[in-house]
Order: sequence, then C-alpha cells, then structure tokens
Amino acid sequence: MMSNELIWDQVDQYFMEKLIPEDKALKQVLITNRELGIPEIDVSPTQGKLLYLFAKMKGARNVLEIGTLGGYSSIWLARALPESGKVYTLEMEQKYADIAKQNIKQAGCENKVEVIVGKALDTLPLLKERGITPFDFIFIDADKQNNPQYLRWALKLSESGTIIVADNVVRNGEVIDANSKDERVQGIRQFMDIIANEPRIEATSIQTVGTKGYDGFVIGVVK
Ligand SMILES: C[S@@+](CC[C@H](N)C(=O)[O-])C[C@H]1O[C@@H](n2cnc3c(N)ncnc32)[C@H](O)[C@@H]1O
Repeated sequence: MMSNELIWDQVDQYFMEKLIPEDKALKQVLITNRELGIPEIDVSPTQGKLLYLFAKMKGARNVLEIGTLGGYSSIWLARALPESGKVYTLEMEQKYADIAKQNIKQAGCENKVEVIVGKALDTLPLLKERGITPFDFIFIDADKQNNPQYLRWALKLSESGTIIVADNVVRNGEVIDANSKDERVQGIRQFMDIIANEPRIEATSIQTVGTKGYDGFVIGVVK
C-alpha cells in the first residue's frame, strides 16, 4: 500500500498529464525559482489551473493577488484575462518581486501583470487611491497571520459578484486546533470567524491533497 503522500502526488501527476498540456513558460518559472532559491510554496499546477478556470468562469478583468512570490499563480491568472485585463499582485520582498517580473516577462504576460512591492497592508490602501478598484477576482496567498486584515481589505476593494479565494486554510488539518501556537493557523481561524459572521460574503471551503500535501482553500462570492 502506497503512503498517502505518494498516492496524492502520483494522482496529481496523472491529472497534470491528462489536463495540463506541457507549458514551457510555466515550467521555466519553476526552474528559475528553484535555481534562484525561491521557496517552493507556489500553487501546484492543478491549483494554478483551478485559479485560471475560476477567473475564466467569472469573466474576470481586474484581479488582485496578495502574495506574488515568483509570479507562478500571477501568470495563471493573467492568462485567464482578456487582453485588456490586469492582475495587480502584491509582494513584500524586492528579490521575489524582481524575479516575478522576469518570470512574467518570459511568459509574455508583462502587459497584463503589475507587481507592486511593499507590505500588502501598506500597498492595499494605495490601490483605491489609484482608482483601479473594484476588483472582480481576489486571490489571498501571503502571510496567513494577516488574513483577517486581507479579507477586510478584499471586501473594501470588491463589488457585488467579486470572487475571493484564499489558499492554505487547512494546513495539514491544524486549522481545527483552537490552541495552536502557530500564528498562521490563528490567522486562518480569525479569517474563518470573520467569514462566518459576514453577511456580505457567501463562501465554502474545499480540502485538497496533491503534490503540495494536504491543505485547502476558501472560495467566496461577494453578495
Ligand atoms: C505562498 S507565497 C505566494 C505564492 C504565489 N501566490 C504562487 O502561488 O505562485 C507568499 C508570498 O507572500 C509574500 N508576503 C509575505 N508577507 C507579505 C506581506 N506582508 N505583504 C506582501 N507580501 C507578503 C511572501 O514574500 C511570499 O512571496
């Protein structure tokens, strides 16, 4: 009997072979990230495609992403948009932002993605001032301890029908540990409490397994 992790990984590989045609640009992003020492905490290919499909289903044109890393998910999202569409992606680390810009250019998405450098809680208020809101799709994937604030911002920067997706809400099941000392787990728990009591959003959560282990995401629609 294979271990759970091994079978999750192999099934993910099988789905990738069947459903995600070999894509040189996206593959190159992962190679570049590894070579430059970027942590391998980007979404998996099947999850990247899920984001792409969600954005397509929505007909998204104006996307906000909190947490760029090397731009892997930004590229998936950008590809779902029409030519005039835009992804604004927020990244705190200058090094990651520079690599992301290079990756995004290499993937031919530079006209559709703007990487904004700085702590998201400092850069989020500037988006409204720039007049580029509301967003129709928001992907929250940065420091999980700040998820409650990111959700509040997402609601401020959205309109009726905006899709909000947040990644890594299961954390190997740790999300149900009310006494967890991990501030990321506590951030997710507070985020869930806000959603539970927030009449402006309808949401659900899906647990996932695959190449990135056992985790999950929340997806919601603003009423
Ligand atoms: C999980 S990674 C993002 C992965 C990316 N969405 C992908 O799937 O390719 C989280 C990123 O958020 C960034 N980050 C962490 N805290 C942040 C903050 N306060 N403001 C902006 N970015 C932050 C980290 O530097 C890291 O690059």
